[in-house]
Amino acid sequence: MIADAHDWRSRDLAVLWHPCTQMREHLRDELPLVPVAGGEGAWLVGQDGRRYLDAVASWWTNLFGHAEPRIAAAIAAQAARLEQVILAGFSHAPAVELAEALLASAPREAGREPLAKVFYADNGSAGVEVALKMAFHWFRNRGETQRTKFIALENGYHGETLGALAVGDVPLYRRVYAPLLAECLFAPSPDAYAGEPGETPEQCARRAAEGLRAVLEAHAGEVCAFILEPLVQCAGGMRMHHPLYLRLARELCDAHGVFLIADEIAVGFGRTGTLFACEQAPPGAAGGAPGIQPDLLCLSKGLTGGFLPLAAVLATQSTYDGFLDESRERAFLHSHSYTGNPLACAAALAVQRIFRDDDVVARNRATAARMRELAAPIGAHRHVADLRQAGMIVAFELTRDGDRRTPFDPSLRVGLRAYRAALARGVVLRPLGDILYWMPPYCIDDAQLELLARVTAETIDEATACA
Ligand SMILES: Cc1ncc(COP(=O)(O)O)c(C=O)c1O
Repeated sequence: MIADAHDWRSRDLAVLWHPCTQMREHLRDELPLVPVAGGEGAWLVGQDGRRYLDAVASWWTNLFGHAEPRIAAAIAAQAARLEQVILAGFSHAPAVELAEALLASAPREAGREPLAKVFYADNGSAGVEVALKMAFHWFRNRGETQRTKFIALENGYHGETLGALAVGDVPLYRRVYAPLLAECLFAPSPDAYAGEPGETPEQCARRAAEGLRAVLEAHAGEVCAFILEPLVQCAGGMRMHHPLYLRLARELCDAHGVFLIADEIAVGFGRTGTLFACEQAPPGAAGGAPGIQPDLLCLSKGLTGGFLPLAAVLATQSTYDGFLDESRERAFLHSHSYTGNPLACAAALAVQRIFRDDDVVARNRATAARMRELAAPIGAHRHVADLRQAGMIVAFELTRDGDRRTPFDPSLRVGLRAYRAALARGVVLRPLGDILYWMPPYCIDDAQLELLARVTAETIDEATACA
């Protein structure tokens, strides 16, 4: 039992090395370290009883609130039956039922072979590794050994393991490890904020798609897959693009015979206004229904409602069939000890039941509309250069002059100031650089949204007062 916050802090710093943290900032007490004893709905409860509104859904994982009783009960019931079993040579009901449920709700495009198989991994980065290796190995099994390259988007992010980092383009995470990373081809981001002056988001999407076409043409026959985060480049600063890009990218991948990998690890499960972001692509030029279907779909984070680590990669029957052979080497041998862990699958099944029972996507649309109303006045702040939204993600881009050209001097640490200012007011806003965003659990209520908006406005005032 940890007696008080001060004692706790020193015990923590004596033994823990925290993720995504310059530990010196904790050691110097520039960055507060918050001991959390529990969670209730959208709140985190500190050991000192202070409550913090979790506006970043605990690294974008939490969907229905902390300690959601239905998910907690499902995990407890599963733990009393079977906590873990090797998934090679063995099977269990939660893994099978979850795969059935995911395939039934996966994006589907008329005339395209549906996603039909689920491969599990145990975190988002591992899921990305699976998808990349699968695409590469599928071509290799067909004798197309020259297809060794991946294309990814500038400013994209797909995780921190070396393979996932290789297809990422956020310099803060990538640059230092660059000498270790496999070569990746980068296509221009369709990010509408970074578009050319006067360009509409749709024009920006079209221009970026031409960039993708050029990369595909320059490397014809060498590429196995193109990977992207549909609609929102989250770690890249919640940068959003027009859904037309998804349609154009789908058509280009088809034309060049490369896998389209949709990384919906952060945006899947109702976050952007549809169950999956891919569903928002407009119909093709020849008409048809909206929505594209990727060849490989990566899911994690909200998959378990934020309770346990798990990832799923959905593939088509033909992709799966490409590995059937007498040779073990042609099989997809990728494995992690906790692949398809029964507790995580049980949590994910409970999440699927909540989606079925609670009409989550419709509720989210109403919550997103309220977020839009509350964010609008903040968007008029003189330091907010851009206010953007995709469903239940809202982002405020802060710049020195409120225009798109003059960022704050990085030494001012506006983001860190904002983090501290919000935390002191009982709200967890964890900016990406100088970009503040809301990505709360779906259960956030109106009073909590009003608090979030008030604190965000005060936070921007306080954090930018230095400029
Ligand atoms: C789009 C995307 N892909 C992959 C990952 C990596 O997931 P994990 O942190 O579980 O490894 C993240 C994490 O933020 C992500 O946002």
